[in-house]
Formats: sequence, structure tokens, C-alpha cells
Amino acid sequence: MKKHKKVAIYPGSFDPVTNGHIDILERSKKLFDKVICAVGVNSSKNPLFSLEEKLDMLYHTVPEGVGIDRFDGLLVDYAKKVKKDYKAKQMIIIRGLRLTTDFEYEDLMFFNNAKLDSSIETIFLPSKQELLHINSSIVRDVAKMNKDYIKDLDVPDYVKKKLIEFVKYGKK
Ligand code: COA
Repeated sequence: MKKHKKVAIYPGSFDPVTNGHIDILERSKKLFDKVICAVGVNSSKNPLFSLEEKLDMLYHTVPEGVGIDRFDGLLVDYAKKVKKDYKAKQMIIIRGLRLTTDFEYEDLMFFNNAKLDSSIETIFLPSKQELLHINSSIVRDVAKMNKDYIKDLDVPDYVKKKLIEFVKYGKK
């Protein structure tokens, strides 16, 4: 495997990926030698899409050059594994920040991850103003409650197609 100095992981549930996530990935690509978008498990969430469906949506939408992966267990353990695989000098966790309401939760996540492994750095990227409103729960709600609004959602076209399939055929 190629050596990369600064490897960044962008972890999340991506249920589904939105234009907000894509924007963070596009900007992160310019900052690090390698960026990996990694689907993890948030044990407090009940996903709409299966892991395979989430990965499929990412394969069709993330910017060129961004790696796609999945992980079980703790994020810091996954970051350690990636560090070894890529022979990385520095591992970075990227998290997007939209509103100040995100901050408390993200700060807590940062403190906990830093306590588990202080060598892994966390970087917060603010969302673009025009994408502050979007999150995956809103997307899931629209798909479940009123399909007429799917066309207006700030998600990639491929995700819209998958949301329409969900409305037609239900949860797999
Ligand atoms: N644009 C749009 N939406 C964004 C966004 C952006 N830039 N940044 C975050 N969001 C939204 C997501 O859509 C998501 O919305 P939802 O809650 O409506 O679904 C929400 O913000 C945050 O979710 P997400 O970014 O997917 O992360 P998460 O909080 O669900 O965490 C893991 C997912 C996998 C990273 C986390 O649970 C984890 O690390 N799990 C492993 C176990 C572990 O290590 N636990 C200890 C952590 S301290």
C-alpha cells in the first residue's frame, strides 16, 4: 500500500449521504493526502438503509479519489488500523459542524476519542451556509412521509433515485 503522510477519516452513519457530506468530502480532499469516507454504526440510530445500500450510494456519489470503507466497533480502533495500513504519520478524524447545536455532541465525541487515543486528531469543518439545513433524518422523514418533496432535497441525484425506490418497494 502507498505511503500517505496525513490520512483523514470522515466517519458517519450516511443514512443516506447528503450534499452536506459531499461538500465536506470535496473540501477535505484538498487538505489531506488521503481521505476515507467510512460508514460506522451509531448504536442509538435505527437505519433506513442497509450497510450495502449506504455503501452503494457512496460509491456513486463521493468525489473521485476518496476511499470508501466501513467499520464495526470503536472509531479509534478503526483509525489505528487505517494508520497502520497506510503507514500514515498522522491520522485525522473529520467531522462537519452545521449549527451550534452540533457542537456539544461533537465536542463530547472529540474528548472521548482523544482520551482513547491522543495521537488521533479531530478537525471540524463548518458547513457551507446554503447546506446548513440538511441532515439525514430530514431526508429519511421526507421519504417515509411525502415522496413529492424528494425532488427538492439537497441530496445527490443517485440518492433521490434510491429514495424513490424505497417509497415504491419499501425497506429491504
Ligand atoms: N451535512 C449534512 N448533514 C450532516 C453533516 C453535514 N456536513 N454533518 C453531520 N451531518 C448530520 C448527519 O446527516 C446526521 O444526521 P441524522 O442524525 O439526522 O442522521 C448527523 O449529522 C450526525 O450523524 P453522523 O455524522 O452520521 O454521525 P453519528 O453521530 O451518527 O456518528 C459514527 C456515527 C459512526 C461516527 C459514531 O457513532 C461512531 O463513531 N461510532 C463508533 C463507536 C464509537 O467509537 N463510539 C464512541 C464515539 S466517542
